[in-house]
Amino acid sequence: MTDTHKSELYYPSEDVIAQANVSDYQALYDYSVQDREGFWAEQAAQLSWFKPWDRVLDESNAPFYQWFVGGEINIVHNAIDRHLLNANRNKMAIIWEGENGQVRNYSYNGLNREVCQFANVLKSMGVNKGDIVTIYMPQIPELVFAMLACAKIGAVHSVVYGGFSQEALASRIDDAQSRVLITADGGWRRGKAVDLKSVADEAMKRSPSIEVCICVKNNELDVDMEPARDFWLHDLKALPIASPKCETEPTSAEDPLFILYTSGTTGRPKGMLHTHGGYAVYTSTTHRMAFDIKPEDRWWCAADPGWITGHSYIVYGPLINGATLMLYEGAPNYPYPNRWWQIIENYGINILYTSPTAIRGLMRFGDRWPQKHDLSSLRLLGSVGEPINPEAWKWYHHVIGQDKCPIIDTWWQTETGGFMACPLPITPLKPGSATKPFFGNVMKVVDDQGNAVAANEEGKLVIENPWPGMARTIFNDDARYQELYWSQQADGHWRYLAGDSAKIDDDGYIWVIGRMDEVLKVSGYRLGTAEIESALVSNHNVSEAAAIGLPHELKGSAIHTYVILKEGATASKDLAVELREHVAKEMGRIAMPESVEFVESLPKTRSGKIMRRVLKARALGQDEGDLSTLEE
Ligand code: PRX
Repeated sequence: MTDTHKSELYYPSEDVIAQANVSDYQALYDYSVQDREGFWAEQAAQLSWFKPWDRVLDESNAPFYQWFVGGEINIVHNAIDRHLLNANRNKMAIIWEGENGQVRNYSYNGLNREVCQFANVLKSMGVNKGDIVTIYMPQIPELVFAMLACAKIGAVHSVVYGGFSQEALASRIDDAQSRVLITADGGWRRGKAVDLKSVADEAMKRSPSIEVCICVKNNELDVDMEPARDFWLHDLKALPIASPKCETEPTSAEDPLFILYTSGTTGRPKGMLHTHGGYAVYTSTTHRMAFDIKPEDRWWCAADPGWITGHSYIVYGPLINGATLMLYEGAPNYPYPNRWWQIIENYGINILYTSPTAIRGLMRFGDRWPQKHDLSSLRLLGSVGEPINPEAWKWYHHVIGQDKCPIIDTWWQTETGGFMACPLPITPLKPGSATKPFFGNVMKVVDDQGNAVAANEEGKLVIENPWPGMARTIFNDDARYQELYWSQQADGHWRYLAGDSAKIDDDGYIWVIGRMDEVLKVSGYRLGTAEIESALVSNHNVSEAAAIGLPHELKGSAIHTYVILKEGATASKDLAVELREHVAKEMGRIAMPESVEFVESLPKTRSGKIMRRVLKARALGQDEGDLSTLEE
């Protein structure tokens, strides 16, 4: 583990400091927590509102906070429409490169035309304000158009990551009761077509709520199109209904913008619900301040738009800020491990934001690949998704950033909507620390009783205040939202429990250690042990299963599973392979276990809960700790 006491400091260069959007962190931070509403009102005033808010923050129904109450806005009005009135109109909004080298570019004006057409198509299919549209797509511009088209007409999008399988897609469609699904024939990965429509077909068989499926043609895959249900987008766009003009629907600040499912402690993924107003303010402010966005910048967040990182920092934050964003569909090392470095050189990317797992993956190919390229356009680098190990941090800083680009390590969650702790470009850095809270946020590390622990001691990471980008609830489950995340303190205020363990050092730097609950971060993807276990148990051979995460050099953590077979089933290598494949099929390849071990029993508490901590300690050859609650 990182030694938080002796960590070296990396100071930003004069050059970076001179152009920083925020020049004094402490002064602005002090103000932002003393007058939180004042601070956020000033940030909100930078956006275009159809009608100004009456109140910045309504705490009357805490922890169900409301922001910018009474205000009318639409996030798309800010992400697109207002740019059409100024010089951004002809500025490049999206540069997309496909794995096979195909390139497509959209100016803000071009983006608007695409989004308007898509919005008109959705309207013609009967999509109304408040309806939830499920989107299951590869990383192509149409994914962004689809999200923005929904938001433009006040519909709610639910994007399901294109790497998820039919079961995961079906359960999310069911939970949202979507009538419309937007998908594509397939995507590209390592030179091969990846089929999506057939997965969507299977999911639609299981989810009767879908009446309309809009399919984007992205490659030449042969797909089944069910008459009267399935439509090609290009056919619909050719109809007179699909005009490139469409009014943006005013929505109230608290109207839902999207739901995004994420894994938690229990089996069912939670649909975190975000809204138009607060989320627009929070994503654009964090993006502008932490990444020092300049009008001429080319910004590349190399995540998939299907995760929160993509929602907040590919689509909404950057477009609101009028940035030019890069989008790449394909593997980072295809056809060679210099693909990303080539992209940075070709397009003159100024800021790269990615995950530790991607950095480690590219680092293993050695320095010679990035060294072939001119990476001097880079000014800032970013990291997200899991703690970054100092070795990867230093490689990223030295080899990619050429010792001149600060690394903006951003700690946040699907639930938080945007960065909660991160440096600014002016902050002295410690490799592996997300440094300080973002403006308006008070963060603490507490013990089991809820008392703040001493500096450098490990405990639970909590946030003491509401912030505009926070999820408003779990879709259809207010009670679970309150119970999982919030606890009221003796003085009456509500505290948000992040689910991470962390330390705060003597200098106030935050060091996130990892999840405390049954959530695993595998290659930066968030997966619940309970979901993996229920996928295993859905195989007819399996009676019981347990999943744990063990440290893995590239992935951060890797999934290891323990299985009790049903009577009559026989343990074998083949069955282990079958079960790994089964999980991949049920959930998606990202969830495929590294190993399946057949066991006779599992360590459980007297109340029948699997003690994964004991399995983990055993696997690592560590002390098993307190076993007093162990049943057998
Ligand atoms: O454990 C933390 C880890 O990712 C979790 C949130 O996962 P998800 O909702 O998928 O969002 C990921 C992208 C925002 C957190 O509870 N995490 C995220 N960023 C960091 C991190 N851990 C350490 N350092 C980070 N920068």
